[in-house]
Amino acid sequence: MDVTGKTAVITGGASGIGRGIARCFASQGMQLVLADIEQDPLEEVVAELAEAGTEALGVKTDVSRLTDVESLAAAATDRFGSVHVLCNNAGVGVADPIAATSMEDWRWTLDIDLWGPINGVHVFLPLMEAQGEGHINSTASMAGLYAGASLGAYNVAKHGVVALMASLERDLRLAGSNVRASVLCPGPINTNIVDSQRNRQPESAAEHIETDTGRKFWDMLTATLAEGMDPDEVGPLVLDAVVNETFWILTHPEMGKVVAKQVDRMLADKTLTR
Ligand code: NAI
Repeated sequence: MDVTGKTAVITGGASGIGRGIARCFASQGMQLVLADIEQDPLEEVVAELAEAGTEALGVKTDVSRLTDVESLAAAATDRFGSVHVLCNNAGVGVADPIAATSMEDWRWTLDIDLWGPINGVHVFLPLMEAQGEGHINSTASMAGLYAGASLGAYNVAKHGVVALMASLERDLRLAGSNVRASVLCPGPINTNIVDSQRNRQPESAAEHIETDTGRKFWDMLTATLAEGMDPDEVGPLVLDAVVNETFWILTHPEMGKVVAKQVDRMLADKTLTR
């Protein structure tokens, strides 16, 4: 797709990877609708983009609520007429062994990380089909391709996002649709996801109770992400998939080796890699 002058909706656009995608799309002359649950950072990013000459709209949205996502689509089409690119990027993370994961943490994680992209596809796909053009990208994770220990709820949600987008892309190609799908599977990126608890809404879920294992894992993750890729480097990879209509977006392709090793072991002796 030629993106110049087109409109993109980016969820989780107020921080990290979403903000990086927004900056990159803005540099290509796109109009932007940023959706986020955090009002103040959202307004800051919209102001930064507007100052640089980009037409940008911020819409406070909880992606786990279908009605919010419907209102987001209405606000985007009211302002810009149509939406050509959707990035289902908003997400949160929480670490615990499965045995210690509370039902509140399961629901909170799956509601945002999996139902967010499902809501996005459900609302925006018909608009794109009607206009005969569009691209839906969702942010999964390497955790969507390889389920490591201590991150069960997140792994389940992100495997779901990869399955959602792969099923969608195959459905669209089978139907001869001009709408395309892609999935972003980042490795470590230096963002605010380590502070995900800030996004917990009082009405949606009880507070997270940490286990020792979860805390140790989160500390290790925090240190790894602090050394991770700059989120501004991710935007061009997403742009490339939209422009060239490719499906997989890997920020750290070398991490694909753990996935290949798991498949090798599955076929060889049927055991799970550690
Ligand atoms: P971040 O915390 O910097 O940005 C996430 C954004 O999503 C924030 O602006 C937050 O306010 C927003 N958000 C949270 N809940 C929301 C909700 N219910 N509705 C709307 N917006 C909501 O974190 P980051 O890392 O930029 O996360 C973006 C995506 O990247 C997430 O889906 C995450 O799972 C994924 N990811 C991140 C990796 C990393 O190393 N940072 C690695 C792999 C995947």
